[in-house]
Amino acid sequence: MEKTIVITGGAGFIGSHLVRRLVNKYPNYQIINVDALTYAGNLQNLSDIENKPNYTFVKADIANEQEIEKLFDLHKIDGVIHLAAESHVDRSITDPMAFIRTNIVGTTILLNAVKKHWNGNFEGKRFYHISTDEVYGSLNSTSGQFTEETSYDPRSPYSASKASSDHLVRAYYHTYGLPIVISNCSNNYGPNQFPEKLIPLAINNIKNKKTIPIYGKGENIRDWLYVEDHAAAIDTIFHHAKIGETYNIGGNNEWKNIDLIRLLCKILDKKLVRNQGESEKLITFVKDRAGHDLRYAIDSSKLQHNLGWNPSLNFEEGLEKTVDWYLNNETWLNEIVSGNYQRYYEQQYGNR
Ligand code: NAD
Ligand code: TYD
Repeated sequence: MEKTIVITGGAGFIGSHLVRRLVNKYPNYQIINVDALTYAGNLQNLSDIENKPNYTFVKADIANEQEIEKLFDLHKIDGVIHLAAESHVDRSITDPMAFIRTNIVGTTILLNAVKKHWNGNFEGKRFYHISTDEVYGSLNSTSGQFTEETSYDPRSPYSASKASSDHLVRAYYHTYGLPIVISNCSNNYGPNQFPEKLIPLAINNIKNKKTIPIYGKGENIRDWLYVEDHAAAIDTIFHHAKIGETYNIGGNNEWKNIDLIRLLCKILDKKLVRNQGESEKLITFVKDRAGHDLRYAIDSSKLQHNLGWNPSLNFEEGLEKTVDWYLNNETWLNEIVSGNYQRYYEQQYGNR
């Protein structure tokens, strides 16, 4: 069936993998990538598909009502998959307002736009909100996993802003009957992740023989999922989920930060033909993050049993693929580190 689907935040890390997947898999869908191109948005992530006939890029800020109105006036939109967000916990500690603006106000502007333009005609329509496991708070090292029933307990400005947006999306379902779906995913890793997050930052620093900053004692635990497995889960949920439902997505793959960094050092020593143990010497313990959540772990059995999704890669395979990608895409990495990537939009699309 022909459909026009808006993906917000499609120039970012997860969004670009999702855009590529849907553009290639569904030639009968028109995919509109709506992104403000903040520091985290990089159209080079999509250079391989930017000329496909079923792909359009629209530069727009979800927190700007006029820009979103214009988008909905110009296109007959059947579905929204909403990923645009400020996404880095450390930045939320230094600048919470940017998170309130995009994650809370921006999400509400999108909800108001679909409510107005779908105008009670919800047949075949869907608003799918992509969220994080961080809304559930922090687990101690022995206390099970987050399920869809776990109470919200966000503890950083980032997770509090995502929790607020989840509540608003659910409120629009209950109050206005909007056809919504939500998923909450664990930490993603893979190609195209901005090198401010742990794994790409460590790869880049190891490659350049710079210190690897580990917050606190490195004992915090995260549940890691390969980004293409997240994109596959989003595809499944978008097409098959029951309206109004929430699904947790996770890799069942918990790692202490320090163990994960040691594994990365081993992989990179091998690939860069260095003596085993050389990169580990770069590990430097630094001041802990304020309010640092100890552990995240996701129970994704609802998604696995009800919709048949499973992660496809084990962690070592995924990490090897990720390391290979960063080593083979030096230009991408150097452009990000130098800030040059932000000129790509003007070069490709002109100054509009
Ligand atoms: P990212 O920071 O790499 O990308 C975010 C994208 O959103 C960028 O392209 C940016 O330009 C765009 N954006 C930011 N503000 C905008 C605005 N006001 N208007 C339009 N576009 C704007 O983020 P990511 O890691 O790809 O995460 C995508 C989504 O997935 C987020 O909603 C995040 O909360 C969620 N999530 C991320 C992870 C993870 O581990 N990265 C895990 C679970 C959920
Ligand atoms: P991050 O990639 O920022 O994701 P999140 O905070 O959303 O989980 O961080 C992953 C873990 O790594 C988290 O426990 C914080 C830690 N960390 C470091 O120890 N050093 C770093 O330089 C960064 C960026 C993160």
